[in-house]
Amino acid sequence: MAAFVLAIDQGTTSTRAIVFDGDYRVKGVGKQEFPQHFPDSGWVEHEPEDIWHTTLETMQYALARAAVSPQDIAAIGITNQRETTLIWHRDTGKPIHRAIVWQDRRTSDRCAALRADGAEDMVRDKTGLLLDPYFSGTKIAWLLDNVEGARAAAEAGKLAFGTVDSFLLWRLTGGKVHATDATNASRTLLYDIAVGDWDDDLLRLFGVPRALLPDVRDSAAHFGETDPDLFGVAIPICGIAGDQHAATVGQSCFTPGMLKSTYGTGCFALLNTGAEIVRSSNRLLSTIAYRLDGKVTYALEGSIFMAGATVQWLRDGLRFFERSDQAGALADHADPNQNVYLVPAFTGLGAPWWDAEARGALYGMTRNTGPAEIARAALEAVCYQTHDLLTAMRRDWTGSSETVLRVDGGMVASDWTMQRLADLLNAPVDRPLVLETTALGAAWLAGHKAGVWPDMQGFSASWKRNRRFMPQMDDDTRRRKLAGWADAIRRTLSA
Ligand code: G3P
Repeated sequence: MAAFVLAIDQGTTSTRAIVFDGDYRVKGVGKQEFPQHFPDSGWVEHEPEDIWHTTLETMQYALARAAVSPQDIAAIGITNQRETTLIWHRDTGKPIHRAIVWQDRRTSDRCAALRADGAEDMVRDKTGLLLDPYFSGTKIAWLLDNVEGARAAAEAGKLAFGTVDSFLLWRLTGGKVHATDATNASRTLLYDIAVGDWDDDLLRLFGVPRALLPDVRDSAAHFGETDPDLFGVAIPICGIAGDQHAATVGQSCFTPGMLKSTYGTGCFALLNTGAEIVRSSNRLLSTIAYRLDGKVTYALEGSIFMAGATVQWLRDGLRFFERSDQAGALADHADPNQNVYLVPAFTGLGAPWWDAEARGALYGMTRNTGPAEIARAALEAVCYQTHDLLTAMRRDWTGSSETVLRVDGGMVASDWTMQRLADLLNAPVDRPLVLETTALGAAWLAGHKAGVWPDMQGFSASWKRNRRFMPQMDDDTRRRKLAGWADAIRRTLSA
């Protein structure tokens, strides 16, 4: 039997494809960055053909690197940047517009108007989300209202909506399958997470015709097969999950109370709450962690919009260094007596503040402040924000919980940042051996369905730690720093 699994990880700034062997080992990796488009202030778009071409090319590259032929791939798993919204023509597969990316703020007025109309309670009850431009619902409505003829075509059943997973599934199957999984559906503002279906009240509220929507399946399911014209054989596609949900799986956070935090473009912390939907009193999200064999596991989520993207800004905007992995070394040279705070509200603030109008700010600079102090403030901001999320989670979640945070994503390669994270959280931080956790999660879902890895326990047991970071900062310093951060946030909020 074919024993390799291919995972596609279609992210915000790059597309990756990874071939795993039967022992979860990485055999080949393809990675390509693609352009970001900022057509207006607060707008972020992707060219759908870039998403498609980088996916195909990285898949081919990963196969070549692994020296594995398509016949030996038992299954494909797809994981993706979530909420990013595409609409395409069902007859040609051609998108009606560029993809509107999750970071895009163009619908913040629409969200404010819906909030003013008192719609937020109903939206929160059904979806576990908040009225924020981050999610897909208002982005779909914007496309239908702003692309000529789109609304009429949608109502006539001629168009299809999808998050990136659906779009890739459609293209990979040669236009045969229009489907998504429950985790991606749970980020649209249109899906009732308790009932497990698209919801008519929500569709009415956002003005979205049902005919646009994909079929919603388990995260490990038979989604279809690749068009043989693409790879010479039809490869089954057996796993789909949004990237943060796939990382939760990849970190084996299968038990209620287990917690992971992923540091990619943004930072997203998910706490497994089991079969229970925990309703947050602290403005966290309730979401679907994964759905297996029709059984839903829920999570509490804290979402921060800028993590790795802040380091990218130091590198490309301020030109403080050439490579992102140099940020920690620069921060290490910062003057310990300076108290500089960076609030990276470049695209507003996410959880627990949800302030779409807030903008980035630097506080506490003196004549001696230079790149090192700003770099330290940027890396610390990621740690402070994680602290705020975990504090909110602790208030919402009364069940037992692991005191160790499992971390992954590009930024966790920095020892300096992980040590500072443990210091500011005053809790241990575990970095796994396999850092490709998101892709591993998608691969496991697909391999699980395809029979390569039937056993969940065996997968959990294979999780290995690379390093545990223990807190070393004294209490006074930590308290002083956290108080300074709280003050910086207070001064940055827009209202
Ligand atoms: O919700 C957005 C998230 O899925 C994006 O993930 O890895 O691109 O930061 P990432």
